[in-house]
Amino acid sequence: MNHLLSRMSPSVTNMIRMDHTHVLTTFHQYHPDTAPRVKKGLADTVCVALEIHAQLEEEIFYPALRAIADSDFMSKSVPEHDQVRRLISQLRHLQPEETSFDEAFYQLMNAVMHHVADEETLLLPTAERVLAHQLGDLGAEMTKRRLQLTASRGGELAGSMARSMSAGGLVLGAGALLAAGYLLSGSPRAPVRGATRPEPSVSPF
Ligand SMILES: [Fe+2]
Ligand SMILES: [Fe+2]
Repeated sequence: MNHLLSRMSPSVTNMIRMDHTHVLTTFHQYHPDTAPRVKKGLADTVCVALEIHAQLEEEIFYPALRAIADSDFMSKSVPEHDQVRRLISQLRHLQPEETSFDEAFYQLMNAVMHHVADEETLLLPTAERVLAHQLGDLGAEMTKRRLQLTASRGGELAGSMARSMSAGGLVLGAGALLAAGYLLSGSPRAPVRGATRPEPSVSPF
C-alpha cells in the first residue's frame, strides 16, 4: 500500500460518510423548477457518484465487515444497492423535461436516504467497533480504487459537473468524486437523521 496514501486517506468509515454527505448535498440542489439541462447534470452527477460509491463498498467495505461480523445485519445492503442501480437505469431512460423525470429522481433520492440511514446508524458504528485497527488501511485501499474508477469515468464526470454547475451552485458531490479532496479532509459528521423511512416519491424541497 502506498505509504503517502495510507497517511493522507481518511478512515474507510469517514470516507463513506463524506460520500453520503456529498451525494445528499447534490440531491438537495434539485428542484422541480430547475432548468432541464441542470436537472440532467445533477441527475448524472448523482448516478455516477452512487455507482462508484456502491462499487467501492461492495469491493472493499462490505467484505471486510462480513469477514469479522455476523453478516445477517447487512443482508439488505447489496439488494438495496441493486434497487438503486435499477432506479438509476430508469432515470437514465427519461428526459429531464418530463414530469416522470422528477418522480424517478425523487424515488432514487428516497431509496438512497433510506439506505444511507441504515448504514450510518448500524453498519458504520459496527465497523468502527469490530474493524477498529483496519479502518485506516481500508480507507487507503478505497482511495486507491476510487482513483482508478474516477479516472475511467473522468469525461462523463466533467460533463455532468459542467451542466449541474450552470445553476450557479457548486455540486460538492462531483468535486468529491475527483478524489483529491478526500485525501485532505477527514472530519466525521453526525449520522443522517430523520431519513430512515422517507415517504415514497415525496419531494422534501
Ligand atoms: Fe451502501
Ligand atoms: Fe454507503
